[in-house]
Amino acid sequence: MTGQKTERLPATEEGVLRAALLLAKGRLVAFPTETVYGLGADARDDAAVAAIFAAKGRPGYNPLIVHVADIAAARQIASFSDTAERLAASFWPGPLTLVLPLKPDAGLSGKVTAGLPTVAVRVPANDLAQRLLAAFGGQVAAPSANPSGKVSPTTAEHVLAGLAGRIAAVLDGGACEIGVESTIVGLDPEPVLLRPGGLPAEDIERCLGRILRGLDGARLPNAPGQLASHYAPAAALRLNATEAREGEAMLGFGDVAGDMTLSASGDLHQAAGCLFDRLRALDATGVRAIAVAPVPDHGLGRAINDRLARAAAPRE
Ligand code: TXA
Ligand code: MG
Repeated sequence: MTGQKTERLPATEEGVLRAALLLAKGRLVAFPTETVYGLGADARDDAAVAAIFAAKGRPGYNPLIVHVADIAAARQIASFSDTAERLAASFWPGPLTLVLPLKPDAGLSGKVTAGLPTVAVRVPANDLAQRLLAAFGGQVAAPSANPSGKVSPTTAEHVLAGLAGRIAAVLDGGACEIGVESTIVGLDPEPVLLRPGGLPAEDIERCLGRILRGLDGARLPNAPGQLASHYAPAAALRLNATEAREGEAMLGFGDVAGDMTLSASGDLHQAAGCLFDRLRALDATGVRAIAVAPVPDHGLGRAINDRLARAAAPRE
């Protein structure tokens, strides 16, 4: 539905209740999580879930993450192996998504999982997200709240810039603490890193006592959303740059200065937190290309480099 008035709801009890009521009516509500803003709908409601895909322009084969309040709620929709239990106990609530076998009686709309036998599930840590889940009392399907293929939103303003008029409301919780999407781990049944994200892979490896392998070339059938060109600003990106060329804006990190910086002190948490906002801001200047300083490839740097690589990938 386009042309609707998008309500901006405050981070108050009233705002949360209004957001929960809209979800219960089958409407779309964007809400903050600790990673990025999600575009939520009742995961059991076919029409509501279909509206997510329509609002984002997202292809129907790309499944959604289901957000639940706690492990008990997650166990109602997905089967947990011992490894899954261990990861959930260690990192939930938090920026980790687990892809697990879907329970046949889960009651989710088939559109959420795009017909796959698995479901992606996560327990967000953000206080407003938790309050919304409690007030709604059900599972909330939520991709990032951006038009498909664009940079994920980390503020209510970002959400409105992309989706105003296409969604019922945004619950405004200010800027997201982490700033990059959740880390996605599949268990088939061995753990596989499907997307680096807000939980450093090293933390997961320490928990499991082993190295996490990625899917690489075989990524598509398992994580249909991990298309190469993604998170794309309008400007072209040139990575691992130490200075700007003619016509480029420079995004710095650490000792490499720029028109803007991800973190002058080289702090990866700070860099993740402002990555999408800086890309949006430089893109908004209408510059032809953005040169980005090298970012170390460990901890949150892995997620940052993954998003930068996708933003820099050749466009279709
Ligand atoms: O931090 C996040 O994860 C945010 C917040 C809102 O929770 N959500 C988010 O959703 O990033 P989205 O839709 O932008 O990315 C979810 C990714 C997609 O690449 C999708 O293909 C993958 O998860 N996914 C979902 N269900 C899956 C499944 N059953 N198997 C494999 N990949 C799946
Ligand atoms: Mg997304």
